[in-house]
Amino acid sequence: MKHHLTLLMILLVSNTQLAVAASRAEAGKAKAAVCAACHGLDGNSKVPTMYPSLAGQSSNDLQTKLQAYREGKGSGPMAATMVAMAKPLSDQDIAELAAYFSQQTKH
Ligand code: HEC
Repeated sequence: MKHHLTLLMILLVSNTQLAVAASRAEAGKAKAAVCAACHGLDGNSKVPTMYPSLAGQSSNDLQTKLQAYREGKGSGPMAATMVAMAKPLSDQDIAELAAYFSQQTKH
């Protein structure tokens, strides 16, 4: 009996996490419209040598990069562009954008 309860709790918790991840990505999609001009709406850039593709990168990596840009850091030749883009983003914006782009398929 105790075992069943534990299993049920695990299932409930992981379902909730999946639902949270899905709604995060959904919210991120709306916010990603402003990123589309450079990175492509689905995160596949048309000019990846200039604008890196975001599709398929891990959510963690994307969050780390966006946080760095927001803090004014970035080593790339066009980092200033992204620093300006990331400045107004909240932690929640970053989490949602990262969730959305990480779930897109890289072509
Ligand atoms: C005006 C064009 C432009 C827009 C709009 C733009 N970006 Fe970027 N982004 C760039 C450029 C250019 C780079 C590469 C910067 C460099 O040289 O370091 C970049 C890099 C990135 C990176 C790092 C990718 C990697 O693999 O290193 C992330 C993450 C990112 N952008 C996310 C976003 C998000 C999210 C948005 C929308 C909120 C956005 N960008 C909007 C031009 C843009």
